[in-house]
Amino acid sequence: MAMKTLMFVCVLVAALALVAPMAEAQLGGIGGLIGNLLGLIRITGTLFCTVDGNMGVNGTATPVFPNALVQLQCGGSVVSSSTTNGNGIFSVVLDPLQVLVPELLNNCNLAVKTPLSNCNASLPSVGVLISSLQLVGSTLVGLLNVTNLIPAGFWVLRP
Ligand SMILES: *[C@@H]1O[C@H](CO)[C@@H](O)[C@H](O)[C@H]1NC(C)=O
Ligand SMILES: *[C@@H]1O[C@H](CO)[C@@H](O)[C@H](O)[C@H]1NC(C)=O
Ligand SMILES: *[C@@H]1O[C@H](CO)[C@@H](O)[C@H](O)[C@H]1NC(C)=O
Repeated sequence: MAMKTLMFVCVLVAALALVAPMAEAQLGGIGGLIGNLLGLIRITGTLFCTVDGNMGVNGTATPVFPNALVQLQCGGSVVSSSTTNGNGIFSVVLDPLQVLVPELLNNCNLAVKTPLSNCNASLPSVGVLISSLQLVGSTLVGLLNVTNLIPAGFWVLRP
């Protein structure tokens, strides 16, 4: 019985040794193909509960702006949107087929539609936080090549 089990394990190991490089080569081939197709664009950042939405003098201890609606606007129309989480973080993921990086850098803005007074009643209830976008490079996430963009810096657009 023990002999049979041992033989079975040996056969299994041999089979795996044979199959694994093939699977890897095949995946590599598919990965190369998919790698060209599966590019994604991710826009992410943290919104702070300050007069201009940026980090204050107290650095990371600056209070954040949760539950804020952040819109990605290109040429005046809304392309996508995200709501900040409890840590003030928003994230918009785009397919490069929707919009290209040069377009995002030249023609798009983030606009915060929720008034600042929602996170701190002492802050203004009018005016919209606006930021252009900045490229910070790309990261590989599995088979995905993710191009990362962040807000270049918020400022207040007064009505
Ligand atoms: C920075 O932190 C200090 C100490 O907690 C606090 O007194 C001060 O009000 C903070 N400043 C701002 C702008 O939040
Ligand atoms: C609310 O905003 C005011 C004005 O900027 C600031 O002095 C105060 O520290 C803020 N309060 C909190 C809880 O962040
Ligand atoms: C990921 O995409 C960027 C932008 O298109 C490109 O410059 C970079 O070479 C790509 N990286 C890989 C590993 O394919």
